[in-house]
Formats: sequence, C-alpha cells, structure tokens
Amino acid sequence: MTESTRTTERISLDAQGLDRAATLLRKGGLVAFPTETVYGLGADATNDRAVASIFDAKGRPRFNPLIVHMADMAMVSRYTDLPDSAAAFADRFWPGPLTLVLPRKEGTRLSELVSAGLSTVAVRIPAHGGARDMIRIADRPIAAPSANASGKLSPTEAAHVLASLDGRIDAVLDGGACSVGLESTVVDVSGDTPVILRTGGLPAEALEHALGYTLAKVSDTADEADAPKSPGMLLKHYAPGLSLRLNATTVREGEALIGFGPIAGDESLSASGDLVEAASRLFQLLHRYDDPGRYSGIAVAPIPETGIGVAINDRLTRAARG
Ligand code: TXA
Ligand code: MG
Repeated sequence: MTESTRTTERISLDAQGLDRAATLLRKGGLVAFPTETVYGLGADATNDRAVASIFDAKGRPRFNPLIVHMADMAMVSRYTDLPDSAAAFADRFWPGPLTLVLPRKEGTRLSELVSAGLSTVAVRIPAHGGARDMIRIADRPIAAPSANASGKLSPTEAAHVLASLDGRIDAVLDGGACSVGLESTVVDVSGDTPVILRTGGLPAEALEHALGYTLAKVSDTADEADAPKSPGMLLKHYAPGLSLRLNATTVREGEALIGFGPIAGDESLSASGDLVEAASRLFQLLHRYDDPGRYSGIAVAPIPETGIGVAINDRLTRAARG
C-alpha cells in the first residue's frame, strides 16, 4: 500500500518528547499524537508533501478533507475567516471535541489537500494539553485524520496506532488512553445556517442546549469505509468548471494538459512519476488550469492505479463526471 517504509519512534509525552515530535513535524514527518477524542495522524498542514503522505500512510482510497488542529484562536484567525456564527461555538466549546468547517482565508499557506480543493477548512482546538503544546512548539497548524490504516477502527491508545501504522509513520507520541474515545462532532458554519455534518464526542444536545436552538443535521448516508459516521461531507466535492479528459496521452486544440511521468504536459504532477508528489500538487494544478478564459478543457495524463494513485484517480474520475 504505502510506497515508503519508515522506522516508527515511540516517544513519551514529556518536555523532551514534545520537542522531538515538533521537530519531526517541522521536517515534514508523520507523527501520531493523542487528543481527547482519538489519536490523530499529524503532518504540517502548510506542507503539501507532508499532507499527501498522510493519505499514503493510511492507504486511504479517497482524498476526503482533513481536520486541521490548532493551538489557539490566534492561529485560527491566521488561516480562516471566522464567520460571526462561529464565535458562539468557538467561545463555548474550544478547546474541545468540536470541529468547525470554516472559510479558508485567501492566500494562506495552508495546503489545498487539507481542503480537498474546497474553499473551506475543518478546524479544531483540541482539549488535550499535550496536543496543544506540540502544535505550539511546532508553530504550525497540524492536519490529522484518525491515526489508523483505512478501514480500521479509530485508535484510542498508542498501541492501536502501532497495530495498523507501525513502519509507515515517523513516530507515535504516547499520551496514554484518550478520555473521550469518540471522534469530534463536526459542524459546518461556513454557510447561512450551521449544519451538523458528523455526530461525535460532543453530543448534539449539549451544543443545542448551549446555543438555544435546534441544529440541522446531514442524514447519515456515508459511502466511505474509513469514516462510517461521517456523512454529508462526502456529498460536496471539488470539481473544476472546465471539462476534464482523463488518461490523455496527447493534447487537443485549446486544452491544457496536466502531465505525469513521461508525459510532460503544460505542467507535470510529478515529472519523476512520484505519486505522493502528484497527490500533493493535484488540487493546485486543477485550480491553476481551470481557466475558461485560456482553455477549453483540461486533459490529464494517465496515473498508475497503485498506492496513492488510487485516490488520485478516484478524485479525477468524480471530477470528470461532475
Ligand atoms: O476527533 C477527531 O475529529 C479526530 C481527531 C484526530 O481530531 N480526527 C478525525 O479526522 O476524525 P478524520 O479525517 O477521520 O475526519 C474528518 C471529518 C471527515 O468526515 C471529513 O469529511 C470532515 O471531517 N471534513 C474535513 N474537512 C471538511 C470540509 N472542509 N468540509 C466538510 N467536511 C470536512
Ligand atoms: Mg477516521
């Protein structure tokens, strides 16, 4: 599944361990870390290649967007435009097991892969003090899905992480068992009215009681094996405005050609045929060439259906259909 094998360090959660975890993250490494909900598989959210390697390590067949973990509100304001409606949630429930889907700030260095090409980003300030310390020391936002291989249960102990990811990630920061043991509740506050996208560690009743009104919920119809309790978010996918033509070996009149490996194109996802690099540039290049003023369509060179190439092809196929 994964292309690269790594030696996985076991790090204990003390001052020295936090420094080590932060150093690995700053170097683009993958570090599993405890939160109050479940262990997350963390990477620097401003490093495209590091974020792409999360999908590679998990063997995720799809690029669903990831939660970006932040240390404090100052960090949140640096990367998102907080709508007024978000304040009520943030004031009462952060730090805690609540994820808010927020509009991305224009021009931020946040990887496009954490948003799977969308204009929003899911953000959480965890209640776990060790997690916040690690993020603060790393001094960057940390993208993290649950730290399990695709299709496996979410890990609530370091040993669970190792059971499915040993040898695929750089380290696990061992902070013992997670206190909540359930993934965070996800609320989309980027639109006109807040919507619960995933029920989780923060009960909907607690949210509604504090807010004083009933929240809309997206019905639970997930089609994703990795996140059986995470519905709706998969209904919305980034799709370019121009038509997409896949498995293109030559370019047609008016088209832009996104290359891979031996097919150079106007620009290449990866000239060396590196699938992790290709994943890290996918949404960037689609956005760049989705320009009806310059092109009539976008053609994409064939991508091998192996490793993270499966997720790349999945997203391209959906985009071509849309
Ligand atoms: O408790 C948790 O939430 C854990 C810990 C590590 O924080 N993380 C976690 O991440 O469960 P993950 O990737 O397994 O789930 C993230 C959920 C997915 O269902 C995803 O579709 C949704 O959040 N999501 C992320 N970004 C989104 C966005 N921009 N719009 C809509 N949904 C989004
Ligand atoms: Mg998960």
